[in-house]
Amino acid sequence: MSVSKLTPPVATPTVRRPVERHRHPGGRRSTDREGGQPTGATGCRLIDLPRVNDPRGNLTFVESSDTIPFAIERVYYLYDVPGGESRGGHAHRQLEQFVIAAAGSFEVLVNDGLHTERFFLNRSYYGLHIPRMVWREIDEFSSGSVCLVMASHHYDEGDYYRDYDEFFAAAGAPDSAA
Ligand code: TYD
Repeated sequence: MSVSKLTPPVATPTVRRPVERHRHPGGRRSTDREGGQPTGATGCRLIDLPRVNDPRGNLTFVESSDTIPFAIERVYYLYDVPGGESRGGHAHRQLEQFVIAAAGSFEVLVNDGLHTERFFLNRSYYGLHIPRMVWREIDEFSSGSVCLVMASHHYDEGDYYRDYDEFFAAAGAPDSAA
């Protein structure tokens, strides 16, 4: 048997960098403004990720401090979320996060104390950057969805605001870094 029969030619993967990609007007819902601007009123932003398109299956990668604007110290994911459930319901004093729908879809409601936006995530080649001091709630999980989260710091319960009123008071304060 010839070598060519053993190893069929592999099609060269097509690499699509974010600069080549279109925005996702269909994947974005905002209660505050029309889509098209890179950063919303809350400071949250959809970021396109590189795509290596390949007949064997596509590949996307995230590189710390490059693809996303912070160094990744932790990764966690939400899965097996029962229908109708919601996650989140908190804000972080210092933590930044990048959220990807690794499978299925869900919605992310964000609020910075002044503005509210709602994002629909349903593709694994883009994600939502959530800066510090943004309240978030994640809901409308589709069956089998996986919410993949990259975080700028290790888990620290002391970094959480779990009470919206407390968050709201701090977010409106002149120095919200406290
Ligand atoms: P929480 O952040 O409130 O979940 P979500 O925002 O996704 O709804 O975390 C739920 C529980 O899991 C809480 O008791 C802390 C624990 N946890 C960790 O131990 N490590 C982690 O990295 C995260 C995100 C949570």
